[in-house]
Amino acid sequence: MRKGRATPARSKLPLALGSAASNVIALRIRSMPAAYKLQVLQDRIEIASSANDGLIQGVQTLRQLLANTRRVWTMPQIVIEDSPRLAWRGLMLDCSRTFLSLSYLKRTIDRMSFYKLNVLQLHLTDDQGWRIEIKAHPKLTSVGSRFASRFAGERGGYYSQDEIRDLVRYAAERGVTIVPEIEMPGHALAALAAYPELSCTGGPFEIFPFFSGPNIVEDVFCLGNESTFHLLEDVLEEVSALFPGRYIHLGGDECPKTRWKTCPKCQARVRTEGLRDESDLQGYLIGRMGRFLDARHKQVIGWDEVAEGGAAPGATVMIWRGLDAVPALAKAGHDVVLSPTTNCYLDYRQSDLPQEQGEGSKPVPLDKVYSFDPLPNGIGDDVRIHVLGAQAAMWTHYARTDDAVDRQIYPRLVALAEAFWTPRELRHWPEFQQRLEVHCRRLANMGVSLGINFRTDPGVWAAPARSEP
Ligand code: ACM
Ligand code: ZN
Repeated sequence: MRKGRATPARSKLPLALGSAASNVIALRIRSMPAAYKLQVLQDRIEIASSANDGLIQGVQTLRQLLANTRRVWTMPQIVIEDSPRLAWRGLMLDCSRTFLSLSYLKRTIDRMSFYKLNVLQLHLTDDQGWRIEIKAHPKLTSVGSRFASRFAGERGGYYSQDEIRDLVRYAAERGVTIVPEIEMPGHALAALAAYPELSCTGGPFEIFPFFSGPNIVEDVFCLGNESTFHLLEDVLEEVSALFPGRYIHLGGDECPKTRWKTCPKCQARVRTEGLRDESDLQGYLIGRMGRFLDARHKQVIGWDEVAEGGAAPGATVMIWRGLDAVPALAKAGHDVVLSPTTNCYLDYRQSDLPQEQGEGSKPVPLDKVYSFDPLPNGIGDDVRIHVLGAQAAMWTHYARTDDAVDRQIYPRLVALAEAFWTPRELRHWPEFQQRLEVHCRRLANMGVSLGINFRTDPGVWAAPARSEP
């Protein structure tokens, strides 16, 4: 298989459409409690589901059962009734710090679908680049998608609205919903380079690659300035029309309040809105944008900081800093998606091996990823019903090429996909280790660069089972 193809390895088995009764793969929509039922019988294969996404999942299981032994394709006779443990099984890709090509996103969607992941969150805006065309404010991309001229060798770029529509359609055909993330009020330097009048100081600003500046930039959107809200509303209007899914992610993480403290406009806003101080300004913004999106039948989701400083009521919270917050958030009525750094951050190193490029002070090894339990025993039903699901995160501060991103993601994403789908009592680390060897061969056939090599890195591969999640 050549690298760079948008499709995974193919069996090249000829399959024509038809309605014969035997020697067929029959796909049927009929109501059933399971997500799908797959029957591999002597003379036919049947996949049934009450929904299209269930049929896609059944087809993916069928593909995983297909084995090539001495050039003959075989498959066991089997009946499977299967349902996911979590409704939201996600992956986030940071397209801002490293601009990821459309073909890379499509390849990733193919692989997600193969492993029954169903949400792709695209982190489209940050300090290092604005990556989505907004017709009402063209400088967001004409200025905001490019690094300052002294970093001419760095890859900039953005997705046009036509490209986004094509990507959304491609993902939907494979059972994947794309959740766009538009960061506010912090991590906004790319937007402020384009429109410096929306900052507290007026700028000017230039966009620098991550390695040449701070991770957290003090200049953020000025929330005393009505023009900031007008721009963000125009952006969310266009974004809402482009992405048919229910959720729009507003970021909200790591926003310093330094500039707001000394900005007369921000301080005036604190007074006129009756806020306690500038730390409530973020809650004011997320609440106001939440109402705007609500009127467009969209649901706000944000990183767990959106639950601080006059938390936006009704916001869905994506938890990255620690799962201790889950019960209180659920009891306050917030739905949550779990993406803790400790188990789900795939940009973190996966071992202490010297060839590792990832970040993080503590590695997030394969067995720790596999043992992640999003719904541990002992949580009450009142909390459980608010846990929508869980998500892998891939930030691209350090991974600057498609292959480098792949090496961080795989094979750990295979382990996480299983943790998101399968209850803990049905997961067995030694057995997974054996199956993973086959998965790694398949991934390699799909053109994936693997982060660890099961032949040369046995210490990582053969880690003992971990009892702690
Ligand atoms: C995050 O990792 N700053 C959400
Ligand atoms: Zn201000």
